[in-house]
Amino acid sequence: MANNLLKGKKGIIFGALDENSIAWKTAQHCYAEGAELVLTNAPIALRMGAINKLAEETKAPVIAADVTSNEDIENLFNKSLEHFGGGVDFILHSVGMSLNVRKGVHYTQNNYEFTHKGFDISSLSLHRILAAAYKLDAINEWGSVVALTYIAAQRIFPDYNDMADNKAILESIARNFGYHYGLKKHVRVNTISQSPTRTTAGSGVKGFDAFISYAEKMSPLGNADADACADYCVALFSDLTKMVTMQNLFHDGGFSFTGVSQAIIEDIQKLGGE
Ligand SMILES: NC(=O)c1ccc[n+]([C@@H]2O[C@H](COP(=O)([O-])OP(=O)(O)OC[C@H]3O[C@@H](n4cnc5c(N)ncnc54)[C@H](O)[C@@H]3O)[C@@H](O)[C@H]2O)c1
Repeated sequence: MANNLLKGKKGIIFGALDENSIAWKTAQHCYAEGAELVLTNAPIALRMGAINKLAEETKAPVIAADVTSNEDIENLFNKSLEHFGGGVDFILHSVGMSLNVRKGVHYTQNNYEFTHKGFDISSLSLHRILAAAYKLDAINEWGSVVALTYIAAQRIFPDYNDMADNKAILESIARNFGYHYGLKKHVRVNTISQSPTRTTAGSGVKGFDAFISYAEKMSPLGNADADACADYCVALFSDLTKMVTMQNLFHDGGFSFTGVSQAIIEDIQKLGGE
């Protein structure tokens, strides 16, 4: 249901890989709410070609940028400003990757080359994007930046591996830059801590199927899906949430504040527990 919540707003969406991506759904929802978009992803991801379908659907240009490259990010902003004829109102950071997760390297034996790469892509990229925008004055007054995170930043989920550390730093960067950008231009910066969701990045985590059904049973509302996450992003990009900044916002059907659920207790009882 579209309400023109983003009418007249211009945004950059990082991380739409295929139609399961949270960024893909968010682009569709933002477009439906009246926003004009620029889509971006790493050159290697663009070569898969799927994004062209989304670009056509949302009438958005696609501009390649590897989030580990300052040059690419500045080029992305310069081209986006030119395309829009002015600054942007919102940015979605929906980017993450861990080579330790991908290659099944145990947390206690992490390969630090992999750790550096994953940190650069998953955490530092938010700083790079905000720093480039700050320098180029690319975000309009009362703009909104959202990055996606996961509760492993606060609590232990062993197979989330070094991505847990990456998410903790991502959330910290959102808070710190949120302070500086708030003072400079009333730009707000938040993270959304999303339920486990079936996407390329999500499914890379070991035991993902068990993980997703555990979360489903622990959450009074069930897991939040990618469409619901897209709606939450729209709300945060809209003028209805202007005073929300530097927050980590749980979007997880109540998972984060549930100690244990009746469904989990019953499962354990079935296994012969007390
Ligand atoms: N899927 C989940 O269970 C879940 C839960 C909570 C948070 N998140 C977060 O949501 C975000 C989006 O992930 P998703 O689940 O939609 O998966 P996804 O695989 O569809 O998206 C990840 C994106 O990161 C991009 N990327 C990787 N390296 C890059 C680079 N060097 N430069 C630019 N882009 C690069 C990929 O091309 C891809 O588009 C991630 O931050 C992820 O950690 C996912």
